[in-house]
Amino acid sequence: MISIQRLEEIIKKFNSVRIAVIGDMMLDEYLIGKVNRISPEAPVPIVNIEEERFVLGGASNVANNLTSLKGKVFVYGVIGNDANGEKFIKELEDKNVNPAGIVKDETRPTIIKSRVLSQGQQLLRLDWEKDADISQDIQNQLLENFEKNIENIDAVLISDYNKGLLTKHLSERIIEIAKKHNKKVMVDPKPQNFKNYVGATSMTPNRKEILDYFGMKKFTSEEEIAEKMAQLKDDLKLDSVVLTRSEEGVSLFRAKHKRIPTVAREVYDVTGAGDTFISTFLLSICAGADLYEAGVIANMASGIVVAKIGTATATQDEIIEFYKDNDNILKNI
Ligand SMILES: Nc1ncnc2c1ncn2[C@@H]1O[C@H](COP(=O)(O)OP(=O)(O)OP(=O)(O)O)[C@@H](O)[C@H]1O
Ligand SMILES: [Mg+2]
Repeated sequence: MISIQRLEEIIKKFNSVRIAVIGDMMLDEYLIGKVNRISPEAPVPIVNIEEERFVLGGASNVANNLTSLKGKVFVYGVIGNDANGEKFIKELEDKNVNPAGIVKDETRPTIIKSRVLSQGQQLLRLDWEKDADISQDIQNQLLENFEKNIENIDAVLISDYNKGLLTKHLSERIIEIAKKHNKKVMVDPKPQNFKNYVGATSMTPNRKEILDYFGMKKFTSEEEIAEKMAQLKDDLKLDSVVLTRSEEGVSLFRAKHKRIPTVAREVYDVTGAGDTFISTFLLSICAGADLYEAGVIANMASGIVVAKIGTATATQDEIIEFYKDNDNILKNI
């Protein structure tokens, strides 16, 4: 059990934590309008757009979560040399994220997922995306940006959406540079790339990701979960493994298995819960929390966002409110 005083002490320190986020940057676009007629050109509805909204996605959703909790954020990733890239940078700046580490790659588009909606219905989604590995030259530019700013950050968060940014070389060099400067590295991995993250500090796979890594279909007991977490920790030489388990909460493994059940009461939309989890977890660790305290706080923050519609974020005040509303449940975990 964390006391309210301890929770406030940790959360207040988020304001002075500086995080480097490296990963696949994306932009989500929502075009919302009314349909009044069918096109004379083809049998499709004409949507008269009334509202256009952008939301940071992928690794930049992690950045958004971090700044929503008042952390300072520097991002490293690629965009295309296109108008969507300019919109993406503007969104970062609006959210107080430092975009200086972003590199323009002439050979690919800015990743954008654009939805057309009318009367609450999604009519169409348009994706601009090329997920080939980034070139050696782009990797070098990213590494240079990352290394020259390393003394201004406290920890590194790698957010892997498997869109070609986190090549083996880039991931290994990032971990190497971070370790040389004594910075923690927390990874949200994709199973195909687990092996790229040898020597990171910690990892937050979800259930499917850890099962895929071991080529398994499901876990049959808590003992088996503990065993696989221990094996992953040894395989990749991590200090700890943090398994997010959706409605089952979270499992921590350093020397032994510790399970923290979920405290979410209402679940409307689980999109982005993993991003909220890793952001809050790393901020808590950097603010002096131990593994268990960080797990409890991140679990609360995720519990807050699953009760909101769409890709959402949590704030410091919301976490404190949530604690006060649920202290009878929290007492027992
Ligand atoms: N259905 C749910 N009920 C309660 N809590 C949930 C639920 N889904 C997610 N959470 C909370 O969010 C955390 C992270 O969720 P999950 O394990 O689904 O991550 P994920 O699969 O990586 O999510 P994402 O969709 O963001 O990639 C969980 O540890 C839990 O605290
Ligand atoms: Mg995830």
